[in-house]
Amino acid sequence: MPNRFTGKVCLVSGAGSGIGQETAISFARKGAKVIAADLNEEGARHTVSSIDAIGGEAVFIKSDISKRVDTEAMVQAALEHFGRLDHAVNCAGITGGVSIPTHEYPEDRWLQVIAVNLTGMWYSVKAQLNQMLKQGGGTIVNVASAAGLKGHPNNVSYSATKHGVIGLTKTAALEYATKHIRVNAVCPTAIETPMIMDGRLNLRNNQELLEKFTNEQAMMRMGQPKEVADVILWLSSDESSFITGHACQLMAVHLPSSWVVPGKKVNCKFG
Ligand SMILES: NC(=O)c1ccc[n+]([C@@H]2O[C@H](COP(=O)([O-])OP(=O)(O)OC[C@H]3O[C@@H](n4cnc5c(N)ncnc54)[C@H](O)[C@@H]3O)[C@@H](O)[C@H]2O)c1
Repeated sequence: MPNRFTGKVCLVSGAGSGIGQETAISFARKGAKVIAADLNEEGARHTVSSIDAIGGEAVFIKSDISKRVDTEAMVQAALEHFGRLDHAVNCAGITGGVSIPTHEYPEDRWLQVIAVNLTGMWYSVKAQLNQMLKQGGGTIVNVASAAGLKGHPNNVSYSATKHGVIGLTKTAALEYATKHIRVNAVCPTAIETPMIMDGRLNLRNNQELLEKFTNEQAMMRMGQPKEVADVILWLSSDESSFITGHACQLMAVHLPSSWVVPGKKVNCKFG
């Protein structure tokens, strides 16, 4: 279905990098007009240029989702530029920052991760729901994580916030199910983006860890941003019209180390 989002308006946060960038471009390829929101101006402007280059329409808005006014401004930008908001994808997020057990985890990072990944998600969903209620419908897809489905050692703030995102998603799905607003989440594991390659684990610079990490994935490879974007688009489309409150697990969750085949070649473009 080449143009299944023609005439639709989609807001993507975290559109300046990784999964959000790929999602914004994928929506535009299928005909949607896109609001590309991110703190990262350079990345999001690149997303907008890429959409321009394929003949699509997109507008950048600089936003910090941990600020309520910014999340409201993201929705306002959709109305000002394109007159409505049909689909929202809340993809902006940060890692736990450091690998450290819970009793030693730094309070300042805890507060920061909660502010972005959980409070920022709630602000975003709240502003989007207010607009979708006025319009009589819409879809929201929140990007959680496999770390929201099970414990994630040495990553307590991230895992706690992603569990929270799933709770928020399921609750909102029930509340607005009769209002023609569907709310779902995706829960990726290892997707090859700057977050995972350069973030907490710094896999780009640690070949040994990259190999171990890759081999612990059920498919023994990392996922690509497009493989997540495709699911997000499906959850946003009428093809998933009877699905709401779902936390869609992408790529099976990490296997125990004992299951890993030693010496398997990593299937990853870095390293
Ligand atoms: N890459 C993975 O393996 C993986 C796995 C599970 C879940 N996720 C989730 O997917 C989402 C996207 O991650 P990614 O891998 O594409 O990472 P990424 O770092 O490539 O992209 C994240 C984007 O979010 C933006 N952002 C961060 N804080 C923000 C804020 N306060 N306001 C606005 N924008 C902000 C960043 O500037 C960046 O452009 C995140 O929510 C992440 O937790 C990623």
